[in-house]
Amino acid sequence: MGFINKSIVKLFPLVPRKIVRRFANKYIAGDKLSDAVELAKRLNDKGIMGTMDVLGENISTKEEAVVSRNECIEVIDAIDKNKLNSNISIKLTQMGLKIDLDFCLKNLEDIMDAAKSVNQFIRVDMEDSSCTKDTIKTFLSARDYYPRCGIVLQACLRRTYADVQELIKSHTNFRLCKGIYIEPVEIAYRKKEEVNEHYLKILRVMLESGSYVGIATHDDKLIEGAYKMIDELKKKRDEYEFQMLLGVRENLRDKIVKDGHRLRVYIPFGEHWYNYSLRRFQENPEVMSYVIKSVFTKN
Ligand code: FDA
Repeated sequence: MGFINKSIVKLFPLVPRKIVRRFANKYIAGDKLSDAVELAKRLNDKGIMGTMDVLGENISTKEEAVVSRNECIEVIDAIDKNKLNSNISIKLTQMGLKIDLDFCLKNLEDIMDAAKSVNQFIRVDMEDSSCTKDTIKTFLSARDYYPRCGIVLQACLRRTYADVQELIKSHTNFRLCKGIYIEPVEIAYRKKEEVNEHYLKILRVMLESGSYVGIATHDDKLIEGAYKMIDELKKKRDEYEFQMLLGVRENLRDKIVKDGHRLRVYIPFGEHWYNYSLRRFQENPEVMSYVIKSVFTKN
């Protein structure tokens, strides 16, 4: 990130929420579950699948985790009632990962009970490196309880190659992304070329093992690399899918669909839209410069 972009990032907290909201609309479905349902319907009409995410930040009590669990169950219910081609993505810290592992597992299993009753898939998101080990451990226990689930791995982490070697032994359903958290260099690749090289190396292992992979990226080089691998390994369309974030590179998204691949869009919604939006802006500070400009201009 260049100097100007870093300066822009520092200005984030000065921008009024109302203005951030105007730009955040691109990245979030809205405050309410009904907003996410409407958006998923529109995406489904275009042949695009969804994965819904209830936005939440740092919970610190079991009561808050139970509220999050119940929200996830409502999402599963809404997906079923509206016959959407969508699943749910869940962050385990929201279920109490940092409070009590057994309690977290129980919450996940409660969500799985709801998913099981309507035959829905559950994706477990991956958070920062302080959660990696426990997320994998909890995922593996939960998968014994309900097999229709998958996990996210991050190509930026050095450990991921070894994690994949272990997880492919049991035919894991993966989403592979670069990883959004800034991690220490001792445990993570920081240079874009290194992350990309690791991403493609891991993707090959996943695809060669016959695992189902959600190829989650907006990076032209990675998508090009994935296309080549899919051809070379003669992968069928139902053996993988591409995944993208809502509001990011929609032209590329349309092209991938036009090329005949399955594509799923991450649909975040909820009252905690502000921090999620700031993370998206940090990834692409150019967007934020428009936000800041609009603070000073009336339009
Ligand atoms: P990169 O960041 O290099 O972006 C490639 C290009 O895409 C950029 O040059 C830019 O043009 C465009 N772009 C990327 N982000 C943009 C933005 N916000 N606005 C506008 N343009 C943008 N991470 C994680 O740690 N745990 C997780 O569970 C998940 N889950 C997840 C699900 C899905 C469906 C996706 C697509 C991504 C995630 N991620 C994630 C986030 C992921 O780790 C990563 O941070 C982003 O996808 C950005 O990385 P890219 O691979 O797109 O490359």
